[in-house]
Amino acid sequence: MNATQQTADEVAERLFGSLLGTVEIMSVYVGDRLGWYRSLVVDGPASAVELARRTDTQARYAREWLEQQAVAGLLEVESEGAPDERRFAIPASTAEVMTDPTSLVYLAPLGRMLGAVGPALPRLLDAYRHGGGVSWDTLGDDARESQADANRPWYEKQLGPALAGVPAIHDALAAPGCRVLDVGCGGGWSSIALARAYPGATVLGVDIDQPSIDLAVTNARDAGVSDRVRFVCQDAAALPDATVDVAFAFECVHDMPRPVEVLSAVRRTLAPGGSLVVMDEAVADAFAPDGDELERIMYGFSLFVCLPDGLSSPPSVGTGTVMRPSTLQGYGEAAGFGAFEVLPIEGFGFWRFYRLS
Ligand SMILES: C[S@@+](CC[C@H](N)C(=O)[O-])C[C@H]1O[C@@H](n2cnc3c(N)ncnc32)[C@H](O)[C@@H]1O
Repeated sequence: MNATQQTADEVAERLFGSLLGTVEIMSVYVGDRLGWYRSLVVDGPASAVELARRTDTQARYAREWLEQQAVAGLLEVESEGAPDERRFAIPASTAEVMTDPTSLVYLAPLGRMLGAVGPALPRLLDAYRHGGGVSWDTLGDDARESQADANRPWYEKQLGPALAGVPAIHDALAAPGCRVLDVGCGGGWSSIALARAYPGATVLGVDIDQPSIDLAVTNARDAGVSDRVRFVCQDAAALPDATVDVAFAFECVHDMPRPVEVLSAVRRTLAPGGSLVVMDEAVADAFAPDGDELERIMYGFSLFVCLPDGLSSPPSVGTGTVMRPSTLQGYGEAAGFGAFEVLPIEGFGFWRFYRLS
């Protein structure tokens, strides 16, 4: 869309569409966090009074939400009646997107990222005016759980098959006793997926955020891989003494205030011949106006989450979500990596895979 060719009516119409999308995402946040979608899936269709009773919430709000969801085309009216008795059902398609943590279209967690940003808006404005930022820690559980749950199905379903198509990485991971490092591991789903895909490997997950490490420990225990997956709360720039064969950094390098320090530390842990695989946003090679949806959403996350997080710990290079391939290549070179390549993994969500060695 070319900015100079749009009429004011077109800009206004577009903004109204954005407003509609924003309020609907906020309504998804409510239904997700209060367990309303889940109750409609697990316990079946409900009136406002029934839904409120099942979830220990307020019937008048439940009624407004149920009606709004039906008006928005996300729920169906199952049976008519007086407003408090009208019953609503959740179609299978909505149920999958809102409640199925194993599905690649499980997008409800993304609403939590906006839930995290809402309370931080005054601090964001302050940072925009005076400098500094808003840390990942400040954004809290909504951001952590949004991130972990939104990425989980991609790691669980697609990471193993994607890596199997890259012989240089797959062969190293499949070698008996392969030692794997996962920096910026968040809720640990990538570490768990690597352990499951490569039963002979041991995985060390490192994250600077203690609540993320706590989540990762619980997730690994529930997944039954605690014997081979260990988590440490640590700045990845000061990695524990370890030698690893393959290292990963999933969607985190662009958040790091000092990525070269972290990449240098990772390089020092690599055994001879070892590689670092970075998964980050599949943005275009260079800035250009009128970008595609991926470019637009990544700039959006950058404004409210990743850039302020990176800038919250000075000194910071201030990468932001839109990390161009040449930017990562420059960080890799500064960290002492001699080779940089884009891996042939296509169609993996929003992401691109790089190999540094
Ligand atoms: C956007 S989240 C990605 C989490 C996870 N890799 C995933 O894909 O779900 C970025 C993570 O990087 C972590 N992080 C940022 N800087 C770090 C550092 N210097 N050392 C270790 N972890 C760091 C944050 O705490 C956060 O959990």
